[in-house]
Amino acid sequence: MSLQLKVLHPELAVEVGGVDLRQPLGGDTLAELQSTLARYPVLVFHGQKLSDDEHAAFTRSFGPIDAGLLLASKRKTRLTNTDVIDLANIDADGKVLEAGNARNVSLLANQLWHSDSSFKSPRAQYSVLCGVDLPGDGGDTEFADQRAAYDALPDAMKARIGSLVAEHWAFHSRNMLGGADFTPEGMAALPPVDWPIVDTIPESGRKTLFIGVHTRAIHGLPTAEARLLLMDLLEHATQRQFVYRHVWRNDDVVMWDNRCTLHRGRPYDLTKRRELRRCTTEYAAA
Ligand code: OGA
Ligand code: MN
Repeated sequence: MSLQLKVLHPELAVEVGGVDLRQPLGGDTLAELQSTLARYPVLVFHGQKLSDDEHAAFTRSFGPIDAGLLLASKRKTRLTNTDVIDLANIDADGKVLEAGNARNVSLLANQLWHSDSSFKSPRAQYSVLCGVDLPGDGGDTEFADQRAAYDALPDAMKARIGSLVAEHWAFHSRNMLGGADFTPEGMAALPPVDWPIVDTIPESGRKTLFIGVHTRAIHGLPTAEARLLLMDLLEHATQRQFVYRHVWRNDDVVMWDNRCTLHRGRPYDLTKRRELRRCTTEYAAA
């Protein structure tokens, strides 16, 4: 074992040292990271200043790249590597977005509990988020363990949801926040998709909830009942004991398994720069 691990949350998050993410991963290191992710679905690396190409290359070692919401938006990005998603609150001229800018709606939607790309098929497996320039005060990111949340459900609830299938839609969260700047064509590129509410992670054999703010319906249930059930499950699944809160330093890299965690950003002063970049893999089995 060459990686150095420091547990940050008993079952959910671990700090990983002893690896340089800029270098191509040897097979042993990749296997070690994969088995660490099977146990702790959130990995934190400090002091990893990655170029966009290094960021994409590291992510690609875990699977094909997921385009996510880029499928619905032709917006020009400031970045040259199109595999990397720009999550900075900065416009093309390098200025902080004005209050009320429609692009901010998508960034602000990241403050709602979600699993990246749960609204598309295939959905996401791992996300790799690089903290480039953080405001220093606020803007933390929280992760909630959906395996532990599932395990803690009463048996009657496990039986009730065991075969339910939810509909996930990319624009549900944006609509909740008053709408964003997507065109009808862009929205048509990401129609709703269905995923079971309970899933099993192959690497660990653990059952997990799969919910979050992209869910807008459950097949076979009236909308109001479905949404109340989804809200109840989300409230259960995001209790503090299931949550790790990451306080960012510049050059942190945080990697997580979207199949069994939810995450959300926390509020920050929107007049300050906050620059993060994300690269995500597709889940081949989905
Ligand atoms: C993301 C995301 C939260 C944050 O990168 O997918 O949801 O804190 N980020 O910016
Ligand atoms: Mn996200």
